[in-house]
Amino acid sequence: MNETSKVRLTVNRISREIDLDNRTTLLDLLRENLQLTGTKKGCDHGQCGACTVIVDGRRINSCLTLAVMNEGAEVTTIEGLGAPGDLHPMQAAFVRHDGFQCGYCTPGQICSSVAMLEEIATDVPSHVTDDLMNKARPTAEEIRERMSGNICRCGAYSNIVDAITEVAETRS
Ligand code: FES
Ligand code: FES
Repeated sequence: MNETSKVRLTVNRISREIDLDNRTTLLDLLRENLQLTGTKKGCDHGQCGACTVIVDGRRINSCLTLAVMNEGAEVTTIEGLGAPGDLHPMQAAFVRHDGFQCGYCTPGQICSSVAMLEEIATDVPSHVTDDLMNKARPTAEEIRERMSGNICRCGAYSNIVDAITEVAETRS
């Protein structure tokens, strides 16, 4: 049986074609094959959100998906959102609001929050959305609920909510 596959996908706007063991997760493809180590491995079990990246516009735990399942996908990691000197507005807001301490969860928090604001903008409801007939709003309650899959062991949560709120307000 063939145990490897050629996978084609676009990562941070660059086309890639890689021969991989079929069991390679998207997270390991990013970190081990492409050396994009901004995406972090926390639990490796879908429980912490440290590995969150954006695939075709939606946030995803990259430890829970095999690379071969993402053939043809557009993947954005923290390195693709912005860079030193040219930060994404969410990255800049995290810096301004002190939204991190050790920083280990931060790439996942930022990728998750960027895609999460798109979910609100496109009226995807959450568990705490009470009015499904009107536009969803980025309240602190909504942000906390929607970001609940991203764990921060340092407990920088209130500053993270402040950073996301600032970006949400500048967009509205
Ligand atoms: S490393 Fe993927 S959710 Fe924790
Ligand atoms: S800043 Fe340390 S885990 Fe979040």
